[in-house]
Amino acid sequence: MDIEREKQVAAEAAAELVENGMTVGLGTGSTVAYLLPALARRSLDILCAATSPRTEHAARELGLRIEDVASIDRFDLTIDGADQVAPDGWLVKGGGGAHTREKIVAGAADRFVVIADSSKPVPALHAPIPLELLSFGLRATLRRVDPASLRNVALSPDGGVIADYHGPVEDPAELAARLSATPGVTEHGLFPPQMVATVFVGRGDRAAIWAPNSAQWLIAALGLLTAGGVLVPVNTRFQEAEAADVIRRSGAKLVLAQQGFLGRDYAAPDGVPVIDLTSGFLDSGRPLEREVSGADLCDIVFTSGTTGQPKGVMMAHAQTIRAYANWCDIVGLRRGDRYLIVNPFFHIFGYKAGCLASLIRGAYTQAGVPVPAALAG
Ligand code: 5RP
Repeated sequence: MDIEREKQVAAEAAAELVENGMTVGLGTGSTVAYLLPALARRSLDILCAATSPRTEHAARELGLRIEDVASIDRFDLTIDGADQVAPDGWLVKGGGGAHTREKIVAGAADRFVVIADSSKPVPALHAPIPLELLSFGLRATLRRVDPASLRNVALSPDGGVIADYHGPVEDPAELAARLSATPGVTEHGLFPPQMVATVFVGRGDRAAIWAPNSAQWLIAALGLLTAGGVLVPVNTRFQEAEAADVIRRSGAKLVLAQQGFLGRDYAAPDGVPVIDLTSGFLDSGRPLEREVSGADLCDIVFTSGTTGQPKGVMMAHAQTIRAYANWCDIVGLRRGDRYLIVNPFFHIFGYKAGCLASLIRGAYTQAGVPVPAALAG
C-alpha cells in the first residue's frame, strides 16, 4: 500500500466511527483531507468544527455543517493526523502549524482519534517540535526555548508565530512541561497519551490473539484480516513477560485474550488494551471490509523461542494463499472434507495448514461449521 492509500484507509476507518447527532472536531492536514469526503459520503446529521481555515473551506465545499468553535464546549469525537506517533502514545503534531487549535479541539473531545500512515509511528519522538509563539517578546521567547527556529510560514489564524524546537526530546513529559511553562509559548506540538483514545495506522494495524482454540479465535482472526489488519498469534504457553516481548516487538495495538483460561489473567504491556474474546466484544462490531493487495502483510507468527528469542515470521496474503493451496493439493484436502484440527491455532500448523486450508478448499473444520459457498475454492 502506498502512503496516500494508507492515509485514505486510516481516514475512512475513522469516518466509520462517526454517528448521527455527534459533534465532531476536524483536524488539519493531508490525512484529514481524506477524512472529509469519507464523512460527507455518509450523509450523517452531524455538527463539525474545523481547526484551520483550510479544513473549514474543504469541509464546507463538501456540504459538511461547520459551526464556529466558540459555540461548542465539547466534542463527541475529534479526528486528526499526526507527524509522529511514539509507542507509548505520545504524539507530535503541528506540521501544518495548526497545533494550538488542534490541541484545544482534541482536548475538548470525549474521544480523540488519530489517523496516520505508516511513516508516522517512530521508536522515539524527535525534533522538530512545532511551537506557536506570541509575537510580543519573540526574541526573548526564542532564546528561552533555544535551540529553535522560526518557520517560514504565515502567522497562525490567531496571530501566532510558528516556530520549531530542535533540541533533544528524551523525556516528552518533561519537555512538554518546560515548553508550557515558558512565557510567550502559546502552545507546543507534544500531545500526551492521555489525550489520545485511538490511533489508526493505515498500513494494517497489528492485533495479537492470545487465546486457546475456539470459534471466537477464528472469527476474531478472520475479522481482523477482512478489515486489513495483521494477525499476531501468541502462544498460550507464554508467560506474561514472554508474551509482552512479542506483543511489543510486533507492534500489536491490542490483545484479544480469553481471560480465565487455565486460571490465568492475560495482561499486555502498558498502553496495549486487552479485550476478552468471551466478553461479547465480537457481537458488538460492525462489518468492515478493506481492500488488501497480495503483497500486504497478513500475519506475523513467532517461533516458540526454544532456540533463543522468538523470531517473528512475516507473511503476505498471496504467499499464504499460495503456500496453503499447495498444501491442500499435497495432502489431498477437498471441498466438503471433514478436517479435525488438533494443533493450537497460535501455531502455523493449526492456523494455516488447518483453519486457512479448510477455508481455501471449503472443507469442514472441527467445529463442524460448513464454509460458505462463496468462500469455498
Ligand atoms: C497540522 C498537523 C497535522 O495533523 C500533521 O502535520 C499531519 O499532517 P499530514 O496528515 O498531512 O501528514 O498537526 O498542524
